[in-house]
Amino acid sequence: MVFKLTVGLLALALSVSAASIKRVACPDGKHTATNAACCVFFSLADELQTNKFDSQCAEDAHEALRLTFHDAIGFSKTGGPSQGGGADGSVILFETIELMDPANNGIDDAIDNLKPLLETFDVTAGDLVQFAGAVAVSNCPGAPRLQFLAGRPNATVPAALGLVPKPEDNVNKIFARMGDAGFSPTDLVHLLVSHTVARSDTLIDNRQAVPFDTTPFTFDTQVFLEVLLKGNETLPPASGEADAQVPNPLAVQGAMRLQSDFAIAHDSQTACAWQEMINNQQLMMNNFQQAMAKLAVTGHDASKLIDCSEAVPIPQPAVKKAATFPAGTGPKLVQQSCPQPFPVLKTDPGAPTTIPECIDGDTNLNDCPS
Ligand code: HEM
Ligand SMILES: *[C@@H]1O[C@H](CO)[C@@H](O)[C@H](O)[C@H]1NC(C)=O
Ligand SMILES: *[C@@H]1O[C@H](CO)[C@@H](O)[C@H](O)[C@H]1NC(C)=O
Repeated sequence: MVFKLTVGLLALALSVSAASIKRVACPDGKHTATNAACCVFFSLADELQTNKFDSQCAEDAHEALRLTFHDAIGFSKTGGPSQGGGADGSVILFETIELMDPANNGIDDAIDNLKPLLETFDVTAGDLVQFAGAVAVSNCPGAPRLQFLAGRPNATVPAALGLVPKPEDNVNKIFARMGDAGFSPTDLVHLLVSHTVARSDTLIDNRQAVPFDTTPFTFDTQVFLEVLLKGNETLPPASGEADAQVPNPLAVQGAMRLQSDFAIAHDSQTACAWQEMINNQQLMMNNFQQAMAKLAVTGHDASKLIDCSEAVPIPQPAVKKAATFPAGTGPKLVQQSCPQPFPVLKTDPGAPTTIPECIDGDTNLNDCPS
């Protein structure tokens, strides 16, 4: 009797919730959506996956993720609306102006890749940038599924030059700039999870796609560990040593470390937020998901946007549970700044890790180095 009553109530509850989320059929005949305004994003996701990212967490996806930041950070509480509208697509719509900022070196690839979609999809530039970033991230094993809200108006002004942080900036300058855009130092650490799928094409002469960790195609926690490793001082620096801005050769030869990542990893305001993600995939995913949700609506009132997160593909599952010291490194090479105990991690067996070089002129950075 009690059981039957419970089942009856459950059935009632289910039918009520099914009725309250009535889906609309999309014009493409393939999808349904909770809101007609989301239909275009299902089609756009298909296009991005098929013709732009090849459903891979490779160069084009990495660049699309980076673009979300370079668009959104064009916002200043102190400078006001004339300095930029945040996540508004100004980086595409005022491309020639914003590319004059040296901090935007390399983002033209992502702009060239995405901009033509504005001709074929009825979306604004700001929505395109943030949606493409969310779809890109879904290709990276271990990534969280990012929120996507639709309805950002097109930018009316370019972002002022100088609003995008540079790796050589002093850490306090970076914190101040982020604060002026609405982000705490901890928010910044959570956004920097993005550097787990990152490589530089511009910072080292004659080299492209120099990775920030040993696993640039995996959304894992390795970057938080590897940025804290100092070089093996028993060895001379490798030629083409990629850590020119920090006085130690790197532990992993062929990788690089941004001076800003190094400084943020060691600053007293952020060292523990950095360290606590080293071996906590779930925490890292949650932190990144929340920080990206905030980044993506910079300059907007989120309550005026429409939730189309359902159009973001379900991410690839994580491949590996625990972080490990790359072969040839180990706990002795850790430079620790957070007073909390350091996680106990295994070391990969074998010869020291060396990442093969990707020479300028390689045509397909998606799989370089192969
Ligand atoms: C203090 C803040 C930051 C600084 C100074 C910084 C700096 C850089 C630099 C210099 C590069 C290499 C670009 C190149 O040479 O090709 C890079 C790559 C990248 N950054 Fe950041 N970044 C910051 C924050 C962020 C944030 C917040 C995100 C995303 C939410 C992000 C996402 C990426 C990605 C995905 C790449 C790799 C691009 C690729 O592999 O082609 N970065 N960053
Ligand atoms: C936003 O700008 C793009 C590119 O110029 C254009 O195709 C699109 O129609 C604009 N959208 C709105 C809502 O103005
Ligand atoms: C560091 O030096 C030691 C001793 O020479 C060596 O056994 C180890 O493989 C080196 N590690 C790296 C990452 O080069």
